[in-house]
Amino acid sequence: MVEQQYFVDVWYGDILLDEADERYWSVLNEQERVKAQSFKRQDLQRKYIKTRAVLKLVLAGYLPVDAQQLSIATATYGKPYVRTQSPVYFNLSHQGNRFAIVVSNIAEVGIDIEQYRDRKNLSALVGKCFSDQEAKFWLALPNIQQTKMFYWFWVRKEAFVKAVGRGIALGLNQCVVNPDKPSCFASIPSAYGLAENWKILDIPLNADEVCAVVLKTADAFEFKQTLWR
Ligand SMILES: CC(C)(COP(=O)(O)OP(=O)(O)OC[C@H]1O[C@@H](n2cnc3c(N)ncnc32)[C@H](O)[C@@H]1OP(=O)(O)O)[C@@H](O)C(=O)NCCC(=O)NCCS
Repeated sequence: MVEQQYFVDVWYGDILLDEADERYWSVLNEQERVKAQSFKRQDLQRKYIKTRAVLKLVLAGYLPVDAQQLSIATATYGKPYVRTQSPVYFNLSHQGNRFAIVVSNIAEVGIDIEQYRDRKNLSALVGKCFSDQEAKFWLALPNIQQTKMFYWFWVRKEAFVKAVGRGIALGLNQCVVNPDKPSCFASIPSAYGLAENWKILDIPLNADEVCAVVLKTADAFEFKQTLWR
């Protein structure tokens, strides 16, 4: 019997779209073109075109279908998925001019990418979105570490609510990262099983960027990250 090979692949890159680049536009179907044209701001239009097209091009590498023919559906709370026999789970995140896509054959997966910057209202956000345990840990950090650490906690929590497909309405403060073991959750909403069955992968991309992937698995898997060109 051939043993199942599990994988978690992250694709990432820049969103800046060369106006002359027809490659991305040609990947979109009619519905996606109409949506692209509905954006009044050109930067947002380009962002949509590029992220949607790259998502389709990436997924086509895992499925027996051309990128153009690939149809992306949306679940109740907005999570995109493809209707297919093959076990292909994915998620997308974009911020500023950067995007990250995760693809896996294991289980539903979530990803979040953020570029970190100094913000004045971090304590207020921590009060709202962190659990008591996380907030206590964060408040005890030296000032210089607080901004970066805030973003690391943030992307791990967001990747969880995206993995389960509920989005932030689930309550980021209910998805508690273990401050002593940040590849694990200390607790999660009971509907999603035991916290210990979920894995957090911190993805090192650039120095000013944080990115995390979350999925539920006890299996060993191969991890790969690739710059999209
Ligand atoms: C999903 C959510 C966490 C995204 O957070 P964000 O940091 O602003 O954005 P990101 O760039 O990380 O992710 C955006 C992408 O996540 C995906 N996404 C959207 N909703 C999602 C969900 N519920 N679960 C997982 N992924 C989702 C989409 O691919 C989206 O990109 P697109 O709009 O270009 O297709 C946030 O917008 C949210 O909570 N949405 C929920 C909305 C909701 O409850 N809607 C209910 C009625 S439809």
